[in-house]
Amino acid sequence: MFPIIEKKVLNSQVTLYRFAAPFIAKKVQPGQFVMLRIDEKGERIPLTVADFDREAGSITLIVQAVGFTTKKLATMEVGDAVADLVGPLGCPTEFGTPKKAIVIGGGVGCAIAYPQAKALAAMGVDTTVIAGFRNRDIVILEEEMRAVANHYYVTTDDGSYGEKGLVTDVLNRLCEKDTYDLVIAIGPIMMMKFVAKATESFGIRTIVSLNPIMIDGTGMCGGCRVKVGGEVKFACVDGPDFDGHAVDFDELARRGAFYRVEEAHACRLEEKQHG
Ligand SMILES: Cc1cc2nc3c(=O)[nH]c(=O)nc-3n(C[C@H](O)[C@H](O)[C@H](O)COP(=O)(O)OP(=O)(O)OC[C@H]3O[C@@H](n4cnc5c(N)ncnc54)[C@H](O)[C@@H]3O)c2cc1C
Ligand code: FES
Repeated sequence: MFPIIEKKVLNSQVTLYRFAAPFIAKKVQPGQFVMLRIDEKGERIPLTVADFDREAGSITLIVQAVGFTTKKLATMEVGDAVADLVGPLGCPTEFGTPKKAIVIGGGVGCAIAYPQAKALAAMGVDTTVIAGFRNRDIVILEEEMRAVANHYYVTTDDGSYGEKGLVTDVLNRLCEKDTYDLVIAIGPIMMMKFVAKATESFGIRTIVSLNPIMIDGTGMCGGCRVKVGGEVKFACVDGPDFDGHAVDFDELARRGAFYRVEEAHACRLEEKQHG
């Protein structure tokens, strides 16, 4: 069992959980994820390790409550424990040796982008973070990002905080003025698609972190297959990071919608059973 040792609500949908998980904390690298199962009957869901403390033996997960399992997790408190946390899974991010990098997070994607920004800053890379949200109420991790990044920009779709507009507006402006050799983008599929389009025109290496449906997380089921450079890859073992210029984002979006009906059904059943 893996107990929750800290819980912090970041906004109405997103919660930070710190779990005691010493073996994972010892090995995990930025870019890797775990498979979480709440109890023996539960489904396994993939979640990125947003932070870790090797000495304390803890890992941090930042989770948006979107459906059955993530909403159930949100009802758990410090002292409660989940049955399984399996990991670290996936390949660590291959940063290379950039001099100037931009890390882009969209919504809860900022949770996955945070360890990347932190790692780049620790490598001495000049790191700019661009964080995009729909509105002011759902801005997360601003303080944490500002603490590690050399420059921080925030955009909101409705202009209620930071700059009104999209992360790509800031990205294009920065790339027109300066030279960057790495962009990392993590967030909604369409955001990553348009970031990759923009950076392609500037010739900047671009890493995206993909989040297809994962079932086992170990390369056995084929559920997480994605097309990259015309080849089939399994995001759980070949990724989740990939070259943003080679990913077939449209196929990724189509596959992500496969289980919409079943997911809605699971939520309705849970609501009926527990009021
Ligand atoms: C490598 C990876 C890392 C992720 N990291 C994070 C993270 O750090 N924080 C976070 O909030 N979310 C993260 N996600 C997404 C998270 O796994 C889903 O939100 C979660 O599985 C939803 O489960 P649910 O039962 O609550 O919702 P459901 O109602 O079952 O599904 C809601 C939506 O979540 C997605 N989803 C559902 N099941 C899965 C699954 N088994 N695998 C992947 N996606 C699924 C689908 O897009 C679906 O439409 C990550 C996904 C991947 C693949
Ligand atoms: S989740 Fe099964 S192969 Fe990747």
